Amino acid sequence: MDNIAKELQEKIIEHLKLDYSKMVIEHWKHPRNWGIMSNADGYAKITGQCGDTMEISINVKNNKIIKCTFDTDGCGSTISCGSMITVLVAGKSIADAKKITQKDLLNYCDGLPRENKHCALLAVTTLQNAIENYERIKNEPWKKLYRNPVT
Ligand code: FES
Repeated sequence: MDNIAKELQEKIIEHLKLDYSKMVIEHWKHPRNWGIMSNADGYAKITGQCGDTMEISINVKNNKIIKCTFDTDGCGSTISCGSMITVLVAGKSIADAKKITQKDLLNYCDGLPRENKHCALLAVTTLQNAIENYERIKNEPWKKLYRNPVT
């Protein structure tokens, strides 16, 4: 990266610090678990009212979420929320994961500006739908074949 690009990036990050927590900026800059797993045990794709889409896939073993990944076409805040939800849920039992709310994610990331709180809701809702998908097909794995996309 040349010096002008680096300088610009630093200015943008300084500006972001006015509105976003360290945690949000960290996940924004370095998203964790980005991508859709092949052969996921549970998968969901949701488009929020703002038009941004979130995809979440989970792998489950012994009733625990051992891996969670996300993908999104959304803004930086949406990327952060997708990344943070994958970290927040990793290792949790299905029962505990089902209890995660938008408020939990907002607490985890030290809050978001009012206009971005729905990004957290999109991430949590997509996770909950991926868990529902897992529960629906766990006894009938052949149903994965009818999931779109097949993951
Ligand atoms: Fe819509 Fe983030 S701006 S989900």
